[in-house]
Amino acid sequence: MEEFPPLVVQANALARQVGFALTREEAGPDSATPSCCLPGVGRILAVLAAGCYAGRIGEIGTGVGVGSAWMASSMPADCTLVTVEIDEDRAAHAGRLLGSDGRIMVLAGDARELIPSHAPFDLLFADGARPDHMAYSSLVDLLRVGSQLVMDDVKPVASLPADSPLRTSDVKRAFFFGNPRLVSTEIVLPDLHNSLLIGTRLSLGPRATPARATARRALTHNSVIRANNV
Ligand SMILES: C[S@@+](CC[C@H](N)C(=O)[O-])C[C@H]1O[C@@H](n2cnc3c(N)ncnc32)[C@H](O)[C@@H]1O
Repeated sequence: MEEFPPLVVQANALARQVGFALTREEAGPDSATPSCCLPGVGRILAVLAAGCYAGRIGEIGTGVGVGSAWMASSMPADCTLVTVEIDEDRAAHAGRLLGSDGRIMVLAGDARELIPSHAPFDLLFADGARPDHMAYSSLVDLLRVGSQLVMDDVKPVASLPADSPLRTSDVKRAFFFGNPRLVSTEIVLPDLHNSLLIGTRLSLGPRATPARATARRALTHNSVIRANNV
């Protein structure tokens, strides 16, 4: 049986209690119905958050606080997390769950308005509504050079039907692998039906090196890692 950090156990129980879906299957066929981040995503967020010494983490779309709970469970004592949720009830639930931790700020409102004033971030989990390609690009501006952007709810190509248009055109993949300011990869979760995208913001200024530019080009060709140990 998989063990979760105590705060994640509480967050999952809260999600159950208030009817916020724990998985995409529970959320049903309507892709607009939100769900919590999966444990495989939470573990990767926790790995990244653990490295944010004296850092600042941002989350767009708190839900009821499951992703925040994963990050809060591993982030250093001198790290802060700001998470924004547009649905007032969800924000209030998450605030009650997380608000006693002085490192965490749960804000109710539209992240497009509230999150930029808290940037730059050392880790940004962009998990809100689906903006268009241009809006995705502006997320990179919120990252400190060398820090990471994460998005989940991606379907691995191998799990898609042969005729799925997502095999060749997926707006999230196109953004991560096409943005010149990111080195990106896709991590397939152990269920093999879900993956996440992660990109590190590059410096394109004086700190950029030709070797790095070459590495970035090689990595844009849709490299996929399997997260076997989560
Ligand atoms: C996939 S859920 C978030 C799950 C959460 N990150 C977790 O790890 O459990 C997406 C959430 O984003 C919220 N949302 C959508 N658009 C938003 C916006 N512009 N600003 C803030 N929150 C938004 C939705 O209300 C929903 O609760």
